[in-house]
Amino acid sequence: MRKSGVTVVVALSLGAVAGAALAQAKPEQLVRQRQAVMILQGKYFGPLAGMAQGKAPYNADIVRRNAAFLDNLSRMPWDAFDPATKDVKSNALPAVFEQQDKFKEAASRLENELHKLYEVSRSGDENAVKTQIGAVGKACGACHENFRQKQ
Ligand code: HEC
Repeated sequence: MRKSGVTVVVALSLGAVAGAALAQAKPEQLVRQRQAVMILQGKYFGPLAGMAQGKAPYNADIVRRNAAFLDNLSRMPWDAFDPATKDVKSNALPAVFEQQDKFKEAASRLENELHKLYEVSRSGDENAVKTQIGAVGKACGACHENFRQKQ
């Protein structure tokens, strides 16, 4: 009897978690989520940019790890740029919602460049990796130029 009681409690709490995940996230929450992903992209891209610019010693292990993190992170922020968030205070310019095709194109560009970086980071060619880090940096910058409030 005790065992089945525990099963019921577990089933109920899993149900609550699934319910929370399915509920429509609030606009403020979406903004926090996309900013969190951007902050992590900055965290894991920063050291790679430093290596590509010769400001930090090249470390193939860190490049491989960060490239894998970034390959995944780069797919996470976009669904949080939902039109429901357009009146929430953030650093996203109105252009994000007014030129959705252009924004999506800039997002795909980043995903593609980061996926290439992930692949190149596994080939072990330092020069190719550094060139690709540069291409990623340009993809970040191009989008910020058009879609993010100037800092
Ligand atoms: C397709 C567009 C786009 C691309 C590509 C992009 N960003 Fe962003 N980024 C934004 C927008 C828009 C904001 C402002 C978001 C907000 O305030 O809600 C932002 C914000 C940020 C922030 C500030 C986060 C905060 O709230 O403090 C950092 C850091 C950042 N981006 C890093 C990066 C890095 C690093 C890359 C490349 C690896 C990158 N971004 C690629 C659009 C982009």
